[in-house]
Amino acid sequence: RFFRELGVSSLDPPVPRAMAPQREETPVKRTTERPSLPLVEGGGSGESPETLEQIRRDLGECQRCKFWPTRTQLVFGEGNPQARLMFVGEGPGADEDTSGRPFVGRAGQLLTRMIEAIGFQRDEVYIANVVKSRPPGNRAPERDEVEACLPFLRRQIAAIRPKLIVTLGNPAIQALLDSKVGITRLRGTFHAYPASSEILVLPTYHPAYLLRSPDKKVEAWEDLKKVRDFFQSPGESPPRPNSPRTFLAKIVKLRPF
Ligand code: URA
Repeated sequence: RFFRELGVSSLDPPVPRAMAPQREETPVKRTTERPSLPLVEGGGSGESPETLEQIRRDLGECQRCKFWPTRTQLVFGEGNPQARLMFVGEGPGADEDTSGRPFVGRAGQLLTRMIEAIGFQRDEVYIANVVKSRPPGNRAPERDEVEACLPFLRRQIAAIRPKLIVTLGNPAIQALLDSKVGITRLRGTFHAYPASSEILVLPTYHPAYLLRSPDKKVEAWEDLKKVRDFFQSPGESPPRPNSPRTFLAKIVKLRPF
């Protein structure tokens, strides 16, 4: 009960992959649990990618999907144009629609804490959404709406060339991997970004979902620790084996956001 009250759902040691029950094949290409950083910098094609400003100009006062009559402002994305780490959400909510900035409402404040929990500042990363205009009533974007907007997100990714994209929630990972597999199955594992072998994608829960289901923060933290480890310098000393004290310290740190 003590652990449950702390938010720990299970104390079982993780099942080694080889022993885990076989599930039906997923169409998604997974990579190893702890990939090394890509060795080659840049796109490798020799062509210089377009800039974020060019992409924003091309987007214009977009009327490519059904959202434009009800939106207040387009929410293009913000952050470091050379970010190594990028976050992709679903689409703007009411606060983002008013401000023109991604993730500034309650879910956005939680996202900022999640980013800081893994040692980044919000302005060091880049934050964008699959759709750039607010869906009426915050409904999930439909396929045609995603298809109209997704090319702009893909161009943003090509311009930024992050090492890792953390997707937040179902629509973001399904759009980027062009997959119907749900977030519960996909979260916490590294996937290859289909358009570039140098970019990895790690799905986790959407912060709005974590606000509704705080018990899921434990799993989200497990995912984010993989992000933190991915960016840790290779010279870091390996983690020490668990003593009862370090085990308890880890439990206390289970939900740092
Ligand atoms: N939810 C999203 O998916 N994106 C935002 O920008 C805000 C809330």
